[in-house]
Amino acid sequence: MSKSDTTEFELGPMNHVGVAVPDIEKAITFYRDIMGVTDISEPEILAPQGVKYAFVNLPTGQVELIEPYGETSPILKFLERNPKGGQHHMCFEVADIHAAKSVMETRGMRVLGEPRIGAHGTLVVFLHPGDAGGVLIELMESHKTCEATDH
Ligand code: CO
Repeated sequence: MSKSDTTEFELGPMNHVGVAVPDIEKAITFYRDIMGVTDISEPEILAPQGVKYAFVNLPTGQVELIEPYGETSPILKFLERNPKGGQHHMCFEVADIHAAKSVMETRGMRVLGEPRIGAHGTLVVFLHPGDAGGVLIELMESHKTCEATDH
């Protein structure tokens, strides 16, 4: 990290922890029947990212369950190494994804790909785990509130 880098950047709230699972229905059953979570979304497919996902909604955030979808799903490799599934990424909100990407690159982070629509319907990028303490970090642009444009 360069000491001359004075760009303002503040990480927003932690939004969710991504958990890769081989069978999303089984994972939902686990969180519902064993862990007692009542608010779990129906699984949906996000084809461009190769995932079927569901949100386990808790007061402080979410667990994002992700099952591979399609032959080229990036989750397949992870499940090869972790056949029972496991913690895959964690996600923090940022105000502006393009600004965040630029700051991260300036600070020497490898940003994986261009901002793209994630499971929450806002733009996301991932940071290379090799530059982030072994953790795959997802940065997600916060939802903009409608009120902001109504005034
Ligand atoms: Co995620």
